Amino acid sequence: MPRPEKTYDRLKGRRALVTGGGSVSEGVGKSTSLLFAAEGAEVAVLDMDGALAEQTVSEIAQAGGSAFAVVADVSDPAQCARAVEEAGERMGGLDILVNNVAISPANPIVNGDWELWDKVLATNLTSAAAMSGYAIPLMEAGGGGSIVMISSVAGMLAHGAWSYGTAKAGMLSLARDITAFHGRKGIRANVIAPGHLFTSHIADRLTDAQRAMRRGIGPLGTEGDPWDIAHAAVFLASDEARFIAGVLLPVDGGVTATGPIVAHATLLQEMAGGGG
Ligand SMILES: NC(=O)c1ccc[n+]([C@@H]2O[C@H](COP(=O)([O-])OP(=O)(O)OC[C@H]3O[C@@H](n4cnc5c(N)ncnc54)[C@H](O)[C@@H]3O)[C@@H](O)[C@H]2O)c1
Repeated sequence: MPRPEKTYDRLKGRRALVTGGGSVSEGVGKSTSLLFAAEGAEVAVLDMDGALAEQTVSEIAQAGGSAFAVVADVSDPAQCARAVEEAGERMGGLDILVNNVAISPANPIVNGDWELWDKVLATNLTSAAAMSGYAIPLMEAGGGGSIVMISSVAGMLAHGAWSYGTAKAGMLSLARDITAFHGRKGIRANVIAPGHLFTSHIADRLTDAQRAMRRGIGPLGTEGDPWDIAHAAVFLASDEARFIAGVLLPVDGGVTATGPIVAHATLLQEMAGGGG
């Protein structure tokens, strides 16, 4: 999907905080920050890498939007508290939080590296709990808000990602509890589960054959990109989704809607000489 040229002010006047909004080239956090700003939101672009956050901020400013950088390591709850406070003070409140930061090292449990396990859980899941926990009172003070968790299909299906998948699965539970216990105060929390995304920073790490395999996995026969996720995040953050709370939205080209059983069913259909 190309970078969108037309936007509709769907987040006009909203104050948003996006974690991992830096990204080397085009990542989910950066695309989401750019699209939120294009839709009229003021965006606090949080990243542990200040230069990357500033790069996103300057691209937003060049496009006529409003943003500023917040430097914090979200694996540390104390830094989450400080970051939410800083963003809230600068914007005069907070309406939208996107928990996007994740790391994904190989981390199997047999002969497990438990320090790494704890680091993945702290970075990918505890960060989302802490950011949300500090953001919710601010949002409630302003009449409500929307929290969007960026999970993964690796949190829905076995993936061999171990700690990463475990953390990603936990985000749905977190979103449901937030919705259950803060919904009455206007807080909605939802989860997006991206499938394979093509980002320019992995372009040189994948061979043509690997990319063809990624495209072949899903029924749509294509990879996604960060803009696909950014569009879903805009929708869930906006009032258009005011009745959507505590759900998991796969944005994965249909990968989780199907499975190996389809091959068997297709074969049976072909043997019977039938179509779909
Ligand atoms: N890229 C994919 O194919 C894909 C697929 C499924 C899910 N996802 C999910 O989408 C999200 C974004 O992925 P991406 O590949 O676009 O990310 P990315 O790597 O482009 O960006 C992540 C940003 O987070 C920052 N960051 C890392 N650790 C941090 C920390 N502790 N504190 C603050 N900032 C930190 C990095 O500096 C970087 O700028 C992740 O949650 C990932 O799990 C991505």
